[in-house]
Amino acid sequence: MALKITVIGTGYLGATHAAAMAELGFEVMGLDVVPEKIDKLRRGEVPMYEPGLEELLRRHVAGIEGSTGRLRFTMDWAELGEFGDVHFVCVNTPQRHGEYACDMSYVDSAIASLAPHLKGPALVVGKSTVPVGSADRLAAYLAEHAPAGADAELAWNPEFLREGFAVQDTLHPDRIVVGVRSERSEKLLREVYATPVEEGSPFVVTDFPTAELVKTSANSFLATKISFINAMAELCEATGGDVAKLAEAIGYDDRIGRKFLRAGIGFGGGCLPKDIRAFMARAGELGADQALTFLREIDSINMRQRGRMVELTRQELGGGPFLGKRVAVLGATFKPDSDDVRDSPALNVAGQIHLQGGQVTVYDPKGMDNARRIFPTLGYADSALEAVRGAHVVLHLTEWQEFRELDPAELGEVAAERVVLDGRNALDAEAWRRAGWRFRAMGRPGA
Ligand code: UGA
Repeated sequence: MALKITVIGTGYLGATHAAAMAELGFEVMGLDVVPEKIDKLRRGEVPMYEPGLEELLRRHVAGIEGSTGRLRFTMDWAELGEFGDVHFVCVNTPQRHGEYACDMSYVDSAIASLAPHLKGPALVVGKSTVPVGSADRLAAYLAEHAPAGADAELAWNPEFLREGFAVQDTLHPDRIVVGVRSERSEKLLREVYATPVEEGSPFVVTDFPTAELVKTSANSFLATKISFINAMAELCEATGGDVAKLAEAIGYDDRIGRKFLRAGIGFGGGCLPKDIRAFMARAGELGADQALTFLREIDSINMRQRGRMVELTRQELGGGPFLGKRVAVLGATFKPDSDDVRDSPALNVAGQIHLQGGQVTVYDPKGMDNARRIFPTLGYADSALEAVRGAHVVLHLTEWQEFRELDPAELGEVAAERVVLDGRNALDAEAWRRAGWRFRAMGRPGA
């Protein structure tokens, strides 16, 4: 009989995973503890902006006209425990308030809520990003608290999806990593992922700590790449070099590669910043902190870029205070094709300038509601053109396609001064200069 799958937690990761499992042909039940999320998902609505996810969900959610009906949602742990053979834990693990360490309370409470309902053989699969050593601890908890005892097994299966590409990354992962302790667990997970594996996704089997470390080390490597190129941008600025050319040139070496070498205001979001911090905190607990002290530098290079953008803006406005200056900010989300503003470098820069007296007007294609919620005192406009109207300087801080398609001549008509700063090295400098703009970008020669 086909496996029945449950997904606990319906954020970016869980909602996408649940819909993808239904797409692969499984009967799926999703659970969340937030009633509003469940109500929305039952209506086929996604609680966030993620390209393609709503369509995928609507194709499978029971009760939606024309759907396969393979995907249902509940808030009832007993129903979930009864239903599933394989339970994926997809709740989030944010940074603990006031500390670097990871907050495990959602994972711990998901496992504690599920355990009493595991009455027969079941596999619980952790997907959340956790400190190394957690899987070991949670497996022991399950064996002790599930009525099924040792038949309630645990596996760790980290997730590598990127926001903005979540559907594609989940249906066609570039690798599947499973930390397992038994052949039975491995066999079940090979069954779950049979389709992507057949299509060529590598399937890597490891022990628990390796699976947990794969995730945090992958994100640390990506963070390191970005901070490396931003450090080179600082050197380019000190010497008159051009970091975009530099990235292109070193990127032709396929040991280095072109990806994740875009200099600018740095990385943000709900993953990279908190993951490198939690990794350092965990290494400290393990007495291996020296191994990761370099991540402290990666973090500080990254955070420095936000301040550098503020200073570059100040310079372009004549070097004095921001009082009375109108600043247009294009972009609020931490990356394009997402409405996520968590630890967004763009909003951080906008916020700093606002706090120093600048009159900031923000426009973002999808992130306006979320941005307003966390920064209600910033000004907001309904379009890029409206944000730029009357501005003394324009900051391009999130590289949405929409911004690359803007007509610099049209914007030039409404701006008070034609000065644009590209914090993402993504605009066509020549096109802006031709339209009479002074164009500056981080790590590149001036106008
Ligand atoms: C990241 C990882 O890329 C995923 O593989 C991982 O699964 C995910 O975290 C997670 O742990 O859940 P994501 O947070 O969606 O994915 O964002 P990225 O695409 O990695 O971008 C992170 C930040 O780096 C963004 O603010 C982006 O603007 C910035 N970035 C990216 C640069 O500044 N330069 C670059 O060259 C690339």
